[in-house]
Amino acid sequence: MCGIVGYIGKRDAIPVVIDGLKRLEYRGYDSAGLAYHTGDGIEVIKVLGKIIGLEKEVERIDDKPTVAVAHTRWATHGEPSEMNAHPHTDCTGKIVVVHNGIIENYRALRQYLTERGHKFTTETDTEVIAHLIEEFYSDGELPFWKAVRSALSEIEGTYGIAVLFEDEPRKIFAARHGSPLLIGAGDDEHIIASDAAAVVRYTDRVIYLDEGTLATVSEDSIIMSNLNEELVTPKIERISMTLSEIEKGGFDHFMLKEIFEQPVTLQNALRGRLNIEEGTVRLNGLENYFDYLHDVERIIITACGTSWHAALIGEYLIEELAQIPVEVDYASEFRYRSPVIREGEAVFVISQSGETADTLAALREAKRQGVPVFGVVNVVGSTIARETDAGVYIHAGPEIGVASTKAFTSQVMLLEEIALLLGRMHGYSMAHGKHLVGELIRVPALVENLLKQEKKKGKIRAIAKEYQRCNNYLYLGRGVNFPVALEGALKLKEISYVHAEGYPAAEMKHGPIALIDKNTPAVFIATEDPLYDKIISNIEEIRARGGPIIAVATEGDNRISELANHVIYVPQADPLVMPMITAIPMQLLAYHIAVLRGTNVDQPRNLAKSVTVE
Ligand code: AGP
Repeated sequence: MCGIVGYIGKRDAIPVVIDGLKRLEYRGYDSAGLAYHTGDGIEVIKVLGKIIGLEKEVERIDDKPTVAVAHTRWATHGEPSEMNAHPHTDCTGKIVVVHNGIIENYRALRQYLTERGHKFTTETDTEVIAHLIEEFYSDGELPFWKAVRSALSEIEGTYGIAVLFEDEPRKIFAARHGSPLLIGAGDDEHIIASDAAAVVRYTDRVIYLDEGTLATVSEDSIIMSNLNEELVTPKIERISMTLSEIEKGGFDHFMLKEIFEQPVTLQNALRGRLNIEEGTVRLNGLENYFDYLHDVERIIITACGTSWHAALIGEYLIEELAQIPVEVDYASEFRYRSPVIREGEAVFVISQSGETADTLAALREAKRQGVPVFGVVNVVGSTIARETDAGVYIHAGPEIGVASTKAFTSQVMLLEEIALLLGRMHGYSMAHGKHLVGELIRVPALVENLLKQEKKKGKIRAIAKEYQRCNNYLYLGRGVNFPVALEGALKLKEISYVHAEGYPAAEMKHGPIALIDKNTPAVFIATEDPLYDKIISNIEEIRARGGPIIAVATEGDNRISELANHVIYVPQADPLVMPMITAIPMQLLAYHIAVLRGTNVDQPRNLAKSVTVE
């Protein structure tokens, strides 16, 4: 997630906004920049890389400006570069914008503005905001704040913005829709920020901007209006959290924060990509290969770890929707065996970090064999993203916790979209497509309700408490939930150091059932789907041998409560989208057991967030 800090008051604004950006570093970023009023214009300074580079650049500033805005960018549209770093300006350089969020309709707006003569200098979606404000202000009919309001009304997507305008040097214009923004209220000074962590050093009095609010901020006043341009009275609240808690958004660990971010990140993975009318998706990142994909004869998906589990789900989805043969390979194996890849085939690589050495090597091996390689990546501009022929970003934002959670469910969401895109090219009907699109749209809210339930009842935490001392677990699932069982086992292993095996439920009879005893819980993913009766049989086989059973089941399923020691209920949805829902209990169970066992949840022993070595 990007970071915004703005200052207006009597202090030297530069150290204030730099310090504020440093408080937001934990959120992850790839470039930084700031802008300030010089007295006869606005100066913009931007760097690719860390804030320390920005600090070096600002050493050359002689005067002590008292108004500035600053930004740390986590790239979503346009590679990480100095050019794409914020702030962005209009054609005149008099309007300067920093922005958090995603503008879904930026292509259309950019085309419209270009036709109106505007000259764009970056690849970002953000730049359209500056030119749009310029467009509305240029005819001189509107006061500047109304030009800002008019520009924002054209935007589809999310924004938190701070704007400087050369002709109004003692004001900062701030607005919020879908991306948090607040104003720290000091004595004759205000600090605008995307996160309280940036203001807590200066004040504990904050005004949280509500959705649709536009604020005109000077050092001694704040004028706020809503979408209907009605004045809104600023409501001052107190920050009670410590800085460390603030950085984690009030959660005890980044992993838990990221688990609870999934309703938003899943929404971001869908944003601007659904074609409801035609029951399909728009994946602009693959559009140059639509013809190739229309005739593709086989697909290989290669990845590591959690991303490999997502790849396995992709196999089920693509074969089910598009009847295209899919093979999934560990990247570390793919790169060293002699993979047979023929003309007319394609390779997908999946990677959160975009830097995993094995996956990068597999990508290069596939390219050496002359087939197109497509990426499903989180970090924009990462090595894997740059080296693939094309691809799609999952827009999950920085994932700080070593154990992948929100990236996994967003990877699955993108694989759902890719499978639907391929399916609709290969005979998957519009009616089916519309149904699936409708189910995908439901997922973020279903996940949100599931998380709310857990926050209120703490059922999974109670289960974790009962089994916290067990040292062996079996995770079992069938169909698209089999890879979720693997993912649940990996989550438990990597953060609680407890041994856990994931298996297709039917495989249990071929050996693992010998492991069952009263201290070896079996976690079953047993939601209602065509294989439900089969998995009930597997549950009975373990129950007969005295193994404790924890089942993830569909709300309203009373039958399973007679068989399992504990049931974690999840909402009903099409089986094809259930992995994004059944993954949540897997994540939470592992998290709570790890916390109870006192391990370092965010940085587990021996692990790195990105495995850039073989
Ligand atoms: C998942 O929780 C682990 N951190 C690990 O398995 C990870 O998924 C794997 O290293 C692949 O990383 P990538 O997605 O960044 O390529």
